[in-house]
Amino acid sequence: MAIRELRIIGDEILSKKTRTVEQIDERICSILDDMAETMYASEGVGLAGPQIGILRKLVVIDVGQGLVELINPEIIEQSGEQIGSEGCLSVPGKYGDVKRPQKIKVRAQNRKGEWMEFTAEDFFARACCHEIDHLNGILFVSLASELYEPEE
Ligand code: CO
Repeated sequence: MAIRELRIIGDEILSKKTRTVEQIDERICSILDDMAETMYASEGVGLAGPQIGILRKLVVIDVGQGLVELINPEIIEQSGEQIGSEGCLSVPGKYGDVKRPQKIKVRAQNRKGEWMEFTAEDFFARACCHEIDHLNGILFVSLASELYEPEE
């Protein structure tokens, strides 16, 4: 495992769309390992492929309930709305309020290639939406009404 270099806003790779993972092989699993290590080392709650320069549909999330790995994730249902603060490892020091669905249903593959579906609510739903946006080249700064830096 290795900590990868984080791509920072202004890097054009962050605005590119990612490709579907067709074959979940050792290389993909090794990238997922590195993504988790990089996320934890940076004290983030989520990380998407483009943030380490990988244009593949790969996401890791840990909002405090353990590591979730998502391969080729998509949101297949959504309901309600919530407004809350978001930050991003690729946008250091900046936060902004973003409107997201309150509840979503996500479909994704695991390392074995099995498709799974799960429901996410509240902050977990927010994290899933934020990371899946990364796979479409969207950063939260384009959705936030204004950005702010936290007071010391
Ligand atoms: Co982000």
